[in-house]
Amino acid sequence: MTNEPSEAQIAVHWREEAYYPPTAKFIAQANAADPDILERFSEPNFPECFKEYADLLSWDKYWHTTLDTTDPPFWKWFVGGRLNACYNCVDRHLTTSRNRAALIWVPEPESEQTSAITYQELYRRVNEFAALLRDFGGVRTGDRVTFHLPMVPELPVSMLACARLGVIHSEVFGGFSGAACGGRVADSGSNILVTMDGYYRNGELVDHKVKADEAVATARELGHEVDKVLVWRRHPNSYASKSPMVEGRDFFIDDLLPDFRGAVVEPVSMPAEAPLFLMYTSGTTGRPKGCQHSTGGYLAYVAGTSKYYQDIHPEDTYWCAADIGWITGHSYIVYGPLALGTTSVLYEGVPTYPDPGRLWRIAERLGVNIFHTAPTTIRMLRKVGPDESAKYRYRFKHMTTVGEPIEPEVWRWYHDVVGKGEAAIVDTWWQTETGGFLGSTLPALQPMKPGSCGPGVLGIYPVIYDEDGETIEAGSDRAGNICIRNPWPGIFQTIWGQPERFVDIYYSKYNRRNSTDWQDWPYFAGDGAVQAADGYFRILGRVDDVINVAGHRLGTKELESAALTVNEIAEAAAVPVMDEVRGRAVEMYVALKPGLSAGAGIEAKVSEAIVREIGKIARPKSVWIVTDMPKTRSGKIMRRVIAGISNFTDVGDVTTLANPEIVDDIRHHVQSEKLTRGEVPRDLSPQEAEEIKSFGRAE
Ligand code: WT7
Repeated sequence: MTNEPSEAQIAVHWREEAYYPPTAKFIAQANAADPDILERFSEPNFPECFKEYADLLSWDKYWHTTLDTTDPPFWKWFVGGRLNACYNCVDRHLTTSRNRAALIWVPEPESEQTSAITYQELYRRVNEFAALLRDFGGVRTGDRVTFHLPMVPELPVSMLACARLGVIHSEVFGGFSGAACGGRVADSGSNILVTMDGYYRNGELVDHKVKADEAVATARELGHEVDKVLVWRRHPNSYASKSPMVEGRDFFIDDLLPDFRGAVVEPVSMPAEAPLFLMYTSGTTGRPKGCQHSTGGYLAYVAGTSKYYQDIHPEDTYWCAADIGWITGHSYIVYGPLALGTTSVLYEGVPTYPDPGRLWRIAERLGVNIFHTAPTTIRMLRKVGPDESAKYRYRFKHMTTVGEPIEPEVWRWYHDVVGKGEAAIVDTWWQTETGGFLGSTLPALQPMKPGSCGPGVLGIYPVIYDEDGETIEAGSDRAGNICIRNPWPGIFQTIWGQPERFVDIYYSKYNRRNSTDWQDWPYFAGDGAVQAADGYFRILGRVDDVINVAGHRLGTKELESAALTVNEIAEAAAVPVMDEVRGRAVEMYVALKPGLSAGAGIEAKVSEAIVREIGKIARPKSVWIVTDMPKTRSGKIMRRVIAGISNFTDVGDVTTLANPEIVDDIRHHVQSEKLTRGEVPRDLSPQEAEEIKSFGRAE
């Protein structure tokens, strides 16, 4: 027996928070204000309830089967239906809203003009680029095209152009490195890479095209050739990159577009089940997972959740300040909002550039009334500009938080200060894999509770299982693995090219038997959670070896393989360390090859390798060189031990290690250095302590 607290004891420390009701003003205008909607989406009405979401779309051919479960867990939604996602997001709004802004783009430099792109203008740009992709790029329905684009209108234009052609797009977050992009280009088999010469970030015009050269080289090493690199220019006719244009491979899009002026490309009518896009995410192994999302199910799901949970009306000015390079941006900047015909704001740069008032200036100027961001941004703004928002006269009716658990203190600041006590907040729990929200509150019907996402959203029936598959009841104060008992239209279809891994990761743990009954195939989300007696879930974080840095998933294996590209490194281990702003940061522990000694900038080399292989978001907070890693007798690195050291928590029982004596050496070295640097440890909450104590347990 140990005297460490059990999961049950930990959850008991949980303090129940008071509810916050939405205002009468919000309720009076909400899309979902009649409680009847909860009944319509209750379990007896599953799966037919999702007809309501599908009916938000325009179908070329209506479907005959809502849900086909004959090949589990490869669910098929709206079978027999045909539609085009671009038509649904653009063309169909032309009759009523041709002159409404579809997108409002805010460049980072305040000296550059904000531009509004109407639905008509979006229609033209998308058609012309679709014609270019088809006739110059040679792409055909079903091909994959990779984008490595920043937050510019050319990104949604490129996405919608692909969707128009039935071409599968795969956007790689602009902040990812060229190498990371190249790995995804090769995995998806894209012959075309679409990029941009540069973009503004923190006041600097970043050279971005150079990453395309690295991406092509990495893809080549992986045995895949890219035929064409199509380059948008941040300022047409002026080239912001030092990287030379490769003859016959690289082309400026603004040079080619005049040939396609006025082109009209018929939207290709796609089966509901055709893939719309891939979105890569990290997992427990080094190989990223290309989550494949469908056309009909996905679009219906993001339209429905945008309508009821984001409370989007066409006349709203909606701003999701995430990056389109992540699933949040695909679902809730581009596809959901545009399917509903609203105005979606895009901001190019850093939230605090040139000062912490920037976001509120944009909100005031554009009359934004729905605002959507992540806890990491909220924490940062609370730290660097707690009084800024009060200086600006914007009014939000609704705000979202997404991506990681939000501390109740931070939630209250968001509510009272950013939301001016008026905005309804939804805390939306979901994942790259799930296409749209899984857990949240219906803003006019279910009160908010700081720190809890809420119950399952409409048509989603979550459950918490213990390790043996027994249900943990609501209000029992015990934590477990949150799963979704049913399929839903937004769920991804498979991992691109790895169907076995798809079944294995998400379904094998709790699959009950070989049956075509969906009830036997709960979806394993990989998150720990507790459910309060009122049915609200509190998400505790990942149960696998994934570190959530500022709302972005980084796999320990990816970080470790990047560190191992440094010649001197023999072994590497990545662990999370609590971070005031980013939630978690990464610390790397590395052991050198025999005969080598520390010094000569090894730490910097490891950091650079990680930035090169993955991107700046993964840059470790510290790199610790150790003489040996704490290991089990079978030679496995005990990540929980070093995670405990990094976080100044109890490292637990080390007597079973092969080399227990190393623990004190490492602790002394790391903790004294941290104290010297002024990295004062703070007390961890019981949940955080549990996360550290069990880190690496997935192996
Ligand atoms: C992981 C998914 C969903 C879009 C952005 C992230 C964590 C997500 C919440 C939330 C607590 C959250 C989970 C999840 N997460 N939203 N509201 N409260 N945790 O997508 O990169 O696929 O990450 O983010 O751990 O599994 P992602």
